[in-house]
Amino acid sequence: MIVILEYNSGIPGVLKNALDWASRPRESSVISRKLVGLIGATPGGLGPVYAQMQIRHILKTMHVPVLPFQKVLISQVHEKIDSNQKVLTDKRTKRYLQSYLPQFINWIDRSLVLD
Ligand SMILES: Cc1cc2nc3c(=O)[nH]c(=O)nc-3n(C[C@H](O)[C@H](O)[C@H](O)COP(=O)(O)O)c2cc1C
Repeated sequence: MIVILEYNSGIPGVLKNALDWASRPRESSVISRKLVGLIGATPGGLGPVYAQMQIRHILKTMHVPVLPFQKVLISQVHEKIDSNQKVLTDKRTKRYLQSYLPQFINWIDRSLVLD
């Protein structure tokens, strides 16, 4: 599972750097063919929609399959968490995440990734 935020309509540079390192050496890359779920949150109104598009493109290049049929783009995240307690308080978002995780696990269980 990769959880992202968004910087200037893209993924943060440190995350790109980490992915670049994980992608080499290409023939024995630690990340290649790992099944990934993506969750993203930002205080902005759209959620990290551009960062998600960008990271999907990058992961495709690295032969990393991403759960294709459901996206988690949490917008205005600062209104949905209690930052003192560090918990998610928004019921709708909680329900959505609770439906996302079993789908992600099912997808992993049913996927056959050949070496
Ligand atoms: C340089 C910079 C650019 C950002 N650009 C965006 C953006 O394009 N869209 C967005 O929704 N949030 C943007 N944010 C807010 C971040 O996504 C993030 O929610 C916020 O910075 C808190 O995380 P941090 O403390 O790890 O930086 C930006 C923040 C920074 C510092």
